[in-house]
Amino acid sequence: MAYRHPHQFPLIPTLLISLLFTTITTTLAKVPPNQTFHFVNQGEFGDRIIEYDAGYRVIRNNVYTFYTFPFRLCFYNTTPDSFVFAMRAGIPNDESLMRWVWDANRNDPVGENATLSFGEDGNFVLADFDGRLVWQTNTANKGVTGIKLLPNGNLVLFDKNGAFVWQSFDHPSDTLMVGMSVRINGRNKLVSRTSDVDGSDGKYSLVLEDNGFNMYINNSGDLLVYGGWGGRSLGSIVTFDAVPENDNATAFELVLTVNQDPPPPAPPSRRRLLQRKVQGGSQINLNKLNYNATYSFLRLGSDGNLRAYTYYDQVSYLKWEESFAFFSSYFIRECALPSKCGKYGLCERGMCVACPSPKGLLGWSDSCAPPQLPPCKGGAKAAQYYKIVGVENFLNPYLDDGEGPVKVGECRDKCSRDCKCLGFIYKEDTFKCLLMPLLGTLIKDVNTTSVGYVKYSK
Ligand SMILES: *[C@@H]1O[C@H](CO)[C@@H](O)[C@H](O)[C@H]1NC(C)=O
Ligand SMILES: *[C@@H]1O[C@H](CO)[C@@H](O)[C@H](O)[C@H]1NC(C)=O
Ligand SMILES: *[C@@H]1O[C@H](CO)[C@@H](O)[C@H](O)[C@H]1NC(C)=O
Ligand SMILES: *[C@@H]1O[C@H](CO)[C@@H](O)[C@H](O)[C@H]1NC(C)=O
Ligand SMILES: *[C@@H]1O[C@H](CO)[C@@H](O)[C@H](O)[C@H]1NC(C)=O
Ligand SMILES: *[C@@H]1O[C@H](CO)[C@@H](O)[C@H](O)[C@H]1NC(C)=O
Repeated sequence: MAYRHPHQFPLIPTLLISLLFTTITTTLAKVPPNQTFHFVNQGEFGDRIIEYDAGYRVIRNNVYTFYTFPFRLCFYNTTPDSFVFAMRAGIPNDESLMRWVWDANRNDPVGENATLSFGEDGNFVLADFDGRLVWQTNTANKGVTGIKLLPNGNLVLFDKNGAFVWQSFDHPSDTLMVGMSVRINGRNKLVSRTSDVDGSDGKYSLVLEDNGFNMYINNSGDLLVYGGWGGRSLGSIVTFDAVPENDNATAFELVLTVNQDPPPPAPPSRRRLLQRKVQGGSQINLNKLNYNATYSFLRLGSDGNLRAYTYYDQVSYLKWEESFAFFSSYFIRECALPSKCGKYGLCERGMCVACPSPKGLLGWSDSCAPPQLPPCKGGAKAAQYYKIVGVENFLNPYLDDGEGPVKVGECRDKCSRDCKCLGFIYKEDTFKCLLMPLLGTLIKDVNTTSVGYVKYSK
């Protein structure tokens, strides 16, 4: 008998099986040739005003309109030759700003002549003008037989049984449309855009975690909480929804529905900030509207505020109405939005009233900025502080006013030794000490037990 390699035998059946398997899946899972799609990003721009002051091109051909009221697929750009494949909400006849509610490639825009294709293999692909792959649904040979934009704005790739192999609702960027979710085991957050003009990832995020649904500001890599629904588990899925408030559906509620799996532990300790209650543990009510709010979305803006917009077409203009804002006169005090006064400022009752300085409180303007800091190395001795009576930092409510009890001198030394500390808030009644890694908007508080000390260098 000739020598036989021990692995030779088993190898053949494995090969055969995998060959067979590939043949089966590719034969079963095809998009009919007349249902494929290819679009080149070129030609005329739309002529209506649209959010972010963007230019746009409607994506369509003879087979696909990719339109279902009021949603449509487009390419848009805010700077020349830099396009994002996105979904628009609102129609041109509205005489009202149309909004961008979903996008595929905001961190990697494409140029003129980029292509969007849906091939027979079932993959939906965005390639730049030079063929570079920019974005894809990753659904090649997974049984996809068609693509469709549903009436709720969900773009889906489905198989022969109608099951969704891929859906845009699983991929929010900064916006949750009605019915869209974030989930702990999946896309678990919204991330703001940088600015109106720059759609790439900004510094604010709203993240679903084991301890809640938290809003963070990314301060050079350190995540600082500034809002959200923290302090308790909300379960594994949070969905934005608009639900009828009464039997005859004359009013609607904007809610975050919470999937309780596993059930959450005890309720959170009370916060000093006004927070709407989580009703029955399964729903967070954002607002009630006295009309049909089915076309709504919730977005984390580039300023860090979380707002809902609702489309109400029984009016002639301003059809997208702001229907909820986390930082607003009726929810969490506006002054608690870190960006409220731009880089720096003192905020009272929702208004930026002063620009604090070593010389005292000056008039506030956009150019108000934190003071010059001493050099990091050996700067502890050079650190000076000026005092502002009756202020809080946005972090106070979330960090339980900091550590303590400590003496004010200790708090000061701690801040002086820490280059990242820009000042501290000292509570004169509880002797608590909160170091501030970011000043932003200081909140004027009637509670004069709270004193702000801002670091500067002479
Ligand atoms: C695509 O082709 C199939 C079979 O050839 C036909 O039944 C169907 O109507 C065609 N669809 C369109 C949109 O042309
Ligand atoms: C886009 O492609 C067309 C040909 O289809 C070509 O004429 C045009 O110059 C291209 N545009 C750019 C910016 O490359
Ligand atoms: C925070 O921002 C830094 C850049 O300043 C970036 O490198 C980092 O990835 C960001 N972190 C998160 C969690 O977004
Ligand atoms: C809706 O229901 C409320 C109470 O359930 C009732 O008072 C109201 O008249 C109803 N409205 C309409 C339009 O039927
Ligand atoms: C609300 O509007 C949606 C979309 O137009 C519609 O499908 C739904 O039936 C409306 N609901 C009620 C209760 O009128
Ligand atoms: C001031 O703060 C103290 C302790 O932080 C608190 O007990 C008191 O209720 C606050 N007063 C007001 C008016 O907020």
